[in-house]
Amino acid sequence: MRPRPENPLIVAIDVSDLGEAAALADALAPHTAMLKVGLELFWAHGPEAIRLVAERAPVFVDCKLHDIPTTVERASANVARLGVRMFNVHALGGEAMMRGALEGARRGADAARRPVPLVLGVTVLSSHGGEGLASPASLAWEAKGSGLDGVVVSGEDVRDVRDACGEDFVLAVPGIRPEGSNGHDQVRVLTPAAAIERGADYLIVGRSITDAADPVGVARGILRATR
Ligand code: C5P
Repeated sequence: MRPRPENPLIVAIDVSDLGEAAALADALAPHTAMLKVGLELFWAHGPEAIRLVAERAPVFVDCKLHDIPTTVERASANVARLGVRMFNVHALGGEAMMRGALEGARRGADAARRPVPLVLGVTVLSSHGGEGLASPASLAWEAKGSGLDGVVVSGEDVRDVRDACGEDFVLAVPGIRPEGSNGHDQVRVLTPAAAIERGADYLIVGRSITDAADPVGVARGILRATR
């Protein structure tokens, strides 16, 4: 059985200012498995933001690619060339698109002589209630069948997905809220300990840490709760 990562914490650096991103990355890097660069920071500063964060910690690029297979293959190669640890595509994009992402990740990493990033599939956004959408477990199963390394999945679905896809599949869970904190716009939230207990490898935490008066203190508290 694949051991779970020793440190499960991924912090979403969801800010628009590069200086603020650097300060958060400096403070949080020692306490995290990865730092996440998502749409807000990327669309403010582009690849420069990824390079800046990657100098401080392994980076998960939450780029949620979803397009025709050729476009996703080429975009994935460009993401991998930046030297990132992990990035994602929408599982709803289908098998050919997911295979394209893997192929591009390999090609870009080889060209830049960097390790091949893990490629995850996004199942269903954790701000959705889930009604009327494909089931997260079936999307995860399709992602696994396409060769992806894992999926992003809500806490509510993580147990089903772990059961469907087995131990050797990376599960990253957003919508995590420490006991008693604000749920923001996330509909499907879970505490850190509950997410790990249900089978999460990684906990993706944003505002509960980045908006806190003491981000490092909250990060440490989350890590304590999961051990
Ligand atoms: O601030 P909060 O902890 O809600 O942030 C969660 C992060 O995870 C955000 O950066 C969001 O874009 C991301 N995310 C998510 N649901 C997904 C995939 C990514 O909330 N399915």
